[in-house]
Amino acid sequence: MIMDFPSLKANKRRLRKDLESLGKFGEGPDGGILRTALSDADLQAREWFKGRMRDAGLWVREDAVANIIGRLEPASGAQGAPCIATGSHMDAVLHGGKFDGAVGLCCSLEALRAIQESGLSIPCPLELIIFTDEEGAHYAGTFGSRAMLNLLVEDEIYKSRGSGCPFLAQSLERMGKDPRQSGKAARSPSEFRAFLELHIEQGPVLDSLGIPVGVVEGIVAIDRHTIEVEGKAGHAGTTPMRLRDDALVKAAGFITAVNREVRSLGSDIVGTIGEMKVHPGAFNIIPGRVEMTLDLRSMKKSLLRSARGKIHEVLRSIPGARMETILSKDGSRMDRKIMELIEEVCRQRGVSWKRMGSGAGHDAMTFPTRGIPAGMLFIPCKDGKSHCPEESIRWEDAAIGAQVLADTIVRIAHGSDLSGMGKRAKRGKGK
Ligand code: GLV
Ligand code: MN
Ligand code: MN
Repeated sequence: MIMDFPSLKANKRRLRKDLESLGKFGEGPDGGILRTALSDADLQAREWFKGRMRDAGLWVREDAVANIIGRLEPASGAQGAPCIATGSHMDAVLHGGKFDGAVGLCCSLEALRAIQESGLSIPCPLELIIFTDEEGAHYAGTFGSRAMLNLLVEDEIYKSRGSGCPFLAQSLERMGKDPRQSGKAARSPSEFRAFLELHIEQGPVLDSLGIPVGVVEGIVAIDRHTIEVEGKAGHAGTTPMRLRDDALVKAAGFITAVNREVRSLGSDIVGTIGEMKVHPGAFNIIPGRVEMTLDLRSMKKSLLRSARGKIHEVLRSIPGARMETILSKDGSRMDRKIMELIEEVCRQRGVSWKRMGSGAGHDAMTFPTRGIPAGMLFIPCKDGKSHCPEESIRWEDAAIGAQVLADTIVRIAHGSDLSGMGKRAKRGKGK
């Protein structure tokens, strides 16, 4: 059935203003932002955004782990019906860009405003959700969505991976929340009809092809590990080279070996050591201990298993080295019917699209884990740059994204069947 909603119109100017305003929170001199989860900049941005949600008529609440939920109830009758939720995250990586997460929040808000202004009656509740700590500054990422769907690792909020960021529990306490109540953030999957997330692609494909919409088929599985290498601290001037047990030299061997082993598995897996702490860390002290993170990703679980095996072998050859897996997130398939709906919308609006996988993690990956249909659409980012201050978008693409998102929400609300959960996506339908 072809549904047409001519009165539904995203407002590009308003959307741009929101994105520009949100980009000021935590903005640095290089044009990027410092807005890690629940930092002062994040808390200020969250308050500002809550105001924008209230201005748009949403009823706003915060759950036990600081996820922000804005809700629009249907005009009559179906208040208890499962909601269609959309959203993303407000936090950013260290020295990140202004659009990762933020574009999803602002486009979601614009979509909900456009839906209200269209006068269309929506027969189920709609929600806009801002998830806490998607990037994993505190621990392992997609924290808010995993808390909402009861998928936290035991005592996760009291754990640290030594990044210098406080435990989540401390950050929640600072906000006046009781961390012992964090389990109360869990909701039943039956409360959700579908979850939709719009995001920048964070890679170069759409931008290089001049295509404004990516229809996400699946999101990679992600393994996150911490590695510790012990050596012996000592005087950098008096200890002969042959008598040293330098933890950083051993760590360097580990890093190059991991790179070599992951490359040997082909192009469907990536591995990154992106964070390192050298203890005690001074010119004149031989490093006594090194802490690192390792992030492994692939759509293929078997490749992740092979990589883990090879890396454990490398570790066994380095005295004093150990690794702990802090989280293994399953890869997710997006709902086939939602993909087709997004494509139907694009066809009707004369927008070109392309199906693609996501090598980045997103809160949308959490929902299918609990049987909730999820869909994701990407918009391009310039030269594919992301997780860096150069991250940028075209306002026009954001407006197209908000429009496609609004159209898709309305179609799902009006009864489009979402029975495609978990089925393999069809390939090659995009333009
Ligand atoms: C989030 O941006 C991730 O992919 O780690
Ligand atoms: Mn990110
Ligand atoms: Mn993101």
